Amino acid sequence: MIGTDLSLAVGILRSGGLVGMPTETVYGLAADALNVDAVARIFSAKGRPTFDPLIVHLWDVSELSRVVCRVPEVALRLASTCWPGPLTLVLPKAECVPDLVTAGLPGVGVRVPSHPMARRLLRESGCVLAAPSANPFGGISPTTAEHVVAGLGDRVDYVLDGGPSCVGVESTVVSLMGDVPVLLRPGGVSPERLRELLGHVEVARPDTSCDDAAQPAPGMLSRHYAPRTPLRLISTTALAEPCPGLRTGLLTWGPESEIPGFDRIFRLCREGNPEICAAGFFAALRDLDSAGLDVIIARQFLDSGLGVALNDRLRRGATGGND
Ligand code: TXA
Ligand code: MG
Repeated sequence: MIGTDLSLAVGILRSGGLVGMPTETVYGLAADALNVDAVARIFSAKGRPTFDPLIVHLWDVSELSRVVCRVPEVALRLASTCWPGPLTLVLPKAECVPDLVTAGLPGVGVRVPSHPMARRLLRESGCVLAAPSANPFGGISPTTAEHVVAGLGDRVDYVLDGGPSCVGVESTVVSLMGDVPVLLRPGGVSPERLRELLGHVEVARPDTSCDDAAQPAPGMLSRHYAPRTPLRLISTTALAEPCPGLRTGLLTWGPESEIPGFDRIFRLCREGNPEICAAGFFAALRDLDSAGLDVIIARQFLDSGLGVALNDRLRRGATGGND
């Protein structure tokens, strides 16, 4: 089930199966993006609605023309500094890309991951690989091979073990379908870095007057990345206090000592470095989620660098649902 047998993984992909693929951001649930039956298996394994499109992973930027029909100059500029790495670009799709991959949209999300095992898998399979995060829909993203199996069990044919994902938060998604680049999801490339590379970037805002299926950009799902345990957020500087009468967990960072009485505390990084916090973030959330707590209190991150992506995940994990 879990292993490092690359040729086994290649064989599974070529015959339309599903492989858990390590990437530097999170583990992906990979299938041949040009095989519509294989792609359909991704949606059913995850329980994912078909209005939410999948990212296509390429071995190298030179493969763009396999799935994209027009590459604007700005895409090449971004690719030359950010690929391989945690950036997804939405570009006009080539005809061979099944509509199921893009949820019927004219753009396809593409990225070149930097994890060496992902790159070898892509190169040796000769496939372009559709891969969402390898978790049941809406849940916490996996950053180890064991997380993938814990969430998907035998719905995934094999999981390649590439160790813990080092970035720890998903890719930044930028649409280049219009005149101005639009940030669809903050992620592993910080907003500061994007602005440095692009100048102005618009930020897509979810439309709160309509439901998830009707969002202007898909994937802006209000409730996502969510633990089963209710999640409550506190500000960066608030004093963390347990909820009276409830088994309370704390996800925090920074040097200050907390009020005693928490049933479990996970401190990501004493210095509050957002890159270090990101690397341990999803694993910490999982740990707390499986600790039999009534509520998890999470301290928001400084709103800069990868802290922006982490705060986005915290907000969506805390929205509605089970609180
Ligand atoms: O780091 C990552 O991006 C990971 C690894 C496995 O590469 N993948 C990942 O995939 O996070 P997923 O499916 O969990 O999230 C992809 C996001 C979704 O919110 C989706 O709506 C958006 O990217 N997306 C994908 N294709 C798109 C498209 N054609 N147009 C607009 N948004 C798109
Ligand atoms: Mg996901």
